[in-house]
Amino acid sequence: MFENTTKLLLHDIENLHEIDVYIKNGGYEAFKKALKMTPDEVINEVKTSGLRGRGGACFPTGLKWTFMPKGKEKPKFLAVNGDESEPGSFKDRQIFEFNPHQLIEGILISGYAMGIDAAYIYIRGEYHKWIRLMQKALDDAYESGFIGKRMKEVFGTDYSIEIYIHKGAGAYICGEETSLMTSIEGDRGYPRFKPPFPAQRGLWNMPTTVNNVETIATVPAIIAIGGENYAKIGAQKHPGTLLFGVSGHINKPGVYELPTGTLLTDIIYNHCEGVLGNKKIKAVIPGGSSMPPLRGDEIDGVKMDEESLKEYGTHIGTGGIIVMNEDTDIVKVTLRIAHFYHHESCGQCTPCREGCGWMEKILKRIVAGEGTIKDLDLLVSVANNIEGNTICALGDAAAWPVRGFVTRFREDFEKYVTQSRVFKAPNIVHGRRNTADTLIEAV
Ligand SMILES: Cc1cc2nc3c(=O)[nH]c(=O)nc-3n(C[C@H](O)[C@H](O)[C@H](O)COP(=O)(O)O)c2cc1C
Ligand code: SF4
Repeated sequence: MFENTTKLLLHDIENLHEIDVYIKNGGYEAFKKALKMTPDEVINEVKTSGLRGRGGACFPTGLKWTFMPKGKEKPKFLAVNGDESEPGSFKDRQIFEFNPHQLIEGILISGYAMGIDAAYIYIRGEYHKWIRLMQKALDDAYESGFIGKRMKEVFGTDYSIEIYIHKGAGAYICGEETSLMTSIEGDRGYPRFKPPFPAQRGLWNMPTTVNNVETIATVPAIIAIGGENYAKIGAQKHPGTLLFGVSGHINKPGVYELPTGTLLTDIIYNHCEGVLGNKKIKAVIPGGSSMPPLRGDEIDGVKMDEESLKEYGTHIGTGGIIVMNEDTDIVKVTLRIAHFYHHESCGQCTPCREGCGWMEKILKRIVAGEGTIKDLDLLVSVANNIEGNTICALGDAAAWPVRGFVTRFREDFEKYVTQSRVFKAPNIVHGRRNTADTLIEAV
């Protein structure tokens, strides 16, 4: 299954979601291999691989696992993040649908490495289909004794783990790791302050690791081919294959598994067969709606890995690429994105709660043709004041695209605004006499 190192997650194998097919193709062998290693050796293998989290922040996975306390004094948990609610991100559900057993195997290996007692796969409640498919895979794995009490009988190990699916109620904020834990505990999904970090105080105040679905599903591949070999795939500082979900004005939207560092233009023009109607590209969001956009005229030579994108002032995020052609109204796109983040803000902290509202309000004013040139600086200033001043990163996620669009496409915004604004104030005193409105100029 892992011979072809350009496809380590979405293999070209028919019916791989079925447990028998998965086993026939070498499934659950990586877990058996891991059981011959010590937990620390497994963690070291993941460290050697250079795997970085696929949930957006690119944090080194092996390093994160070392934060978990050793020993058995307290129960330990793993939360597998499949909330996937960021506009433009739709890759984890491919794993639920086409390769759920690799995710289960990844949980077994990660669980063994960190001494996890129970794992929760968090899936957004509306994703009925993927919940059903994932549950079927879990049921089959339980029935085969691959999970739970019969693991000793099947694998000859004293290690055992329980795996549950937790359905979210449908909120973007529940993808944020502390909020996700609050939601699993049965409360409203509110982010918590960090520190303490989940490894110190996570689910029910117990040590917890939160990892993305794709991150965990990658682990069997690393154990199978070895950390060193994995580290050689793709970009050196952000190695491996990545699931790029490509949408927007392209001929062949979809999820493409490709090595990190693949050229953005290669993805758009070769894999996705070009732009709809052969139009020019106006903008590309490289990693989900929260990431600053790239201009169409700067995408030549851009490599799709975190370190390369940083040089362009943006990030790989969730690998959700949104392509916009030359006919796109960038100002309206910015308003739509700002509306989403305002709607999804949980409202706990003032800069995010108020700032997201202000950004949307200013953008609405601009789109209505009532904005002034000063509104553009005001937007950037509001975004700057949200960034870094909030409990969780939703604030940054809201600020980055607005600031990115306004600064990178300023000329588009300037076309919408005037140098000064004229208010029409009705003549109150002589209102009934139908006199002309008073014009007040505000600069
Ligand atoms: C508002 C918000 C939404 C998020 N949504 C997701 C999500 O749907 N899936 C995900 O894996 N990470 C999401 N994250 C990132 C998580 O907080 C966390 O960093 C990630 O699950 C860690 O996994 P990783 O280290 O494997 O990337 C979100 C973060 C924020 C701030
Ligand atoms: S940044 Fe926004 S979403 Fe996050 S805790 Fe504060 S108000 Fe809630």
